[in-house]
Amino acid sequence: MKLDVDRKRLVSEIEALASISDGEAPAVTRIVFTPTDLKARAWLRTRCEEAGLAVRWDAVGNTFARWAGSDPAAAAVGTGSHIDAIPNAGKYDGVVGVLGGLEAIRALQRSGFRPKHSIELLVFTSEEPTRFGIGCLGSRLLSGSLSPEAAGRLADDEGKSIDEVRGGAGLQGELADVKLADGYYKAFVELHIEQGPLLERQQIPLGVVTNIAAPASLRISIAGAGGHAGGVLMPDRRDALCAAAELILAIENAALTSGAWDTVATVGMCEVFPGAVNSIPSQVRLSVDIRDTDRERRDAVMRAAENAGQAISAKRQVAIHTDLLNADAPANCAPGVVEALSQSCQKRGQNFLPMVSRAYHDSLFMARITPTGMLFIPCRNGYSHRPDEYASAEDIARGTLVLAETLAVLSA
Ligand code: GLV
Ligand code: MN
Ligand code: MN
Repeated sequence: MKLDVDRKRLVSEIEALASISDGEAPAVTRIVFTPTDLKARAWLRTRCEEAGLAVRWDAVGNTFARWAGSDPAAAAVGTGSHIDAIPNAGKYDGVVGVLGGLEAIRALQRSGFRPKHSIELLVFTSEEPTRFGIGCLGSRLLSGSLSPEAAGRLADDEGKSIDEVRGGAGLQGELADVKLADGYYKAFVELHIEQGPLLERQQIPLGVVTNIAAPASLRISIAGAGGHAGGVLMPDRRDALCAAAELILAIENAALTSGAWDTVATVGMCEVFPGAVNSIPSQVRLSVDIRDTDRERRDAVMRAAENAGQAISAKRQVAIHTDLLNADAPANCAPGVVEALSQSCQKRGQNFLPMVSRAYHDSLFMARITPTGMLFIPCRNGYSHRPDEYASAEDIARGTLVLAETLAVLSA
């Protein structure tokens, strides 16, 4: 099969989508269900319809663009990713999997290939946790990993419920109907930038993912006592930020000493109240993200954080309260999809690295309902979630070609 990826068009589409942003270029900010996100969705829908795909969406806005196979009743083969972007992000996270997936379908169409199983491009809603505090909202609901009741209780920072927000975006229907029927997909493959440095460092053009690390997210509230920064003597203080500082270092230490590089822990948000230079912090709120490919090891870091919190609370006379937002199970990619990806690399003469995904992806949840695999391309310096995130046109086109080849194998 002669497969050609239209690299120029793909790159210009990535640029066009990046221009639909609330960030100042080159930064991309596209928070779910903002007017900007809705504009990007409409733009993408037009691109899918131009490719002759039948587009539908569900009650949470997950979008499905289908190229019907010769056996339309057979389970579909899915590919795709997300287009929402955290504040001050880059152009490629998620987008490469969506626009690369679209171009892979177009390349297959141009080659004369006709799939037996329909091929469906998926654009998941809110892979990023920015608005509702939980990542992979769309794929959690699709896969039945989050109950519609729990999803219905989510609200954004302004207190708007998910129903209010999705209603405002014109989405109708029940969250309970988002879960896909058993056997809907035959397989799912996601193309993504690596978001780490290994491929670039080892000069290997492609990564075939074998397993996906899973995150746990915590919100920790610390309540101490405020007061005048001049008037309150040091022995009398119950400074919530000093307690938070100790706790942050204890969490870092627990991850550092887990015995495996796969364990990572990040305190990415620290809100200080009242936030005045001459006022002792009385309250602090931390957001904590702990990940591992091994659930037990990850959970041990969570227990260490809990124990450290109790000790710090007693020592400093502050109240520490932890809310668990999610603690997901890591996923293994399906051997059959890993094999299809590996063979497609070989067929196209491409060296590849079997590797772990340390970032999470919608594939983490798709793996619960269908055989799933991921294909990584390098990104410069491993940078991601920052405006200078970059993947070369050559690498994007290469990944798209191997994705197309893999979709052909899986959908035949
Ligand atoms: C996804 O964006 C992640 O944080 O891994
Ligand atoms: Mn991301
Ligand atoms: Mn992503």
